[in-house]
Parts: sequence; C-alpha cells; structure tokens
Amino acid sequence: MIVCSHQLSGESWACLRVCGKRGQMLDPDKKKRREERRRFVETFLGMGVAASVASFLYPVLRYIIPPKQVELGASLVLAAHIGDLKPNSGKIFRFGSRPAILILTSDGKYHALSAVCTHLGCTVQYLPDQHEVWCPCHNGKYTVDGANISGPPPRPLQEFDVILKGNDIYAQRPQNS
Ligand code: FES
Repeated sequence: MIVCSHQLSGESWACLRVCGKRGQMLDPDKKKRREERRRFVETFLGMGVAASVASFLYPVLRYIIPPKQVELGASLVLAAHIGDLKPNSGKIFRFGSRPAILILTSDGKYHALSAVCTHLGCTVQYLPDQHEVWCPCHNGKYTVDGANISGPPPRPLQEFDVILKGNDIYAQRPQNS
C-alpha cells in the first residue's frame, strides 16, 4: 500500500482531508529504508553515548578501586654495586618484570622497595630533599621503609631484604611474603 508522508492515510486526497496538507506519497520500500536509516543513526548515537560514559567511568573506578598487589616474579635480584649510590639517593632497578628502588640514606643504610605505587601503579622515585619516596602521579608519599604517609596510596610499598655480598647489593623478597 502507498502511504502518505503524514502517515494518516493511504491516499493523498485523504491526507489532504485529514491533515489539511497535501501529503507526499511514499512507497513502502522508501519508508522501510528511511526507518532502517533512522534505526542505524539511533544505534550509532547510542554507542557513542555508551563509549563516552565508559571513558568517563573507567578512570574514576580505577581511582576508587586500586589494583591488587602485583606479583613481582623473582626472589633475589642484583640491585646495584657498592659505590653506585651516593648517600641520600635512590636508584631504580628491575625486580622480575617490575621496577624496584634501592635507597641509600644519609646515615648509610640501604632500603629496597617495590617502585610500583600501591595506588594506581605509577613508578615512584626518591626525593633527597624530603628523604621520602614520592609518586608523581597523584602526589602519594612513602617513608624509606615503604610506609604510606600521605596522598591516595592505600598500602605500603613492598619492602625487600637487602643482602650485601662482596661488592654486590642484592634485593630479596622476604621469605614470608
Ligand atoms: S599512582 Fe596515584 S599516587 Fe601513585
């Protein structure tokens, strides 16, 4: 059946009578194609809205729900050699597949920590001026023992045992972790 564009009647004269305007006659194929186009546009717009909402929510959720502590994949690693670090400085090294940090304090004590921030996983660094470990992503701070002291980090940094063997400095995952 041919339908007028006002969709009130099957005949243009009837459309004129019902709507008070002359309807344009549409053939059924044209009407079907128009509906398919409308449905496509609606679907496309719906997907765009869903993608926008997801791209907004994902970082918010990541911020609120920190990732679980990551397995570092090694138990004993050569971190540095004696003399590599000046007092009151830090050095990033690899512990398995993840970064770790070796710190030599002003009083000559070594500390080895995971360098993966417990908030969202950024790599931390040592701040000599403040004698603290700092995460540049959201200003999280830790002591040289790895304790979280300010900012969003929810847990301490994992601490490793430091073993000195001759000229080598090793970091070892504690046996109980
Ligand atoms: S990733 Fe947010 S404070 Fe480190």
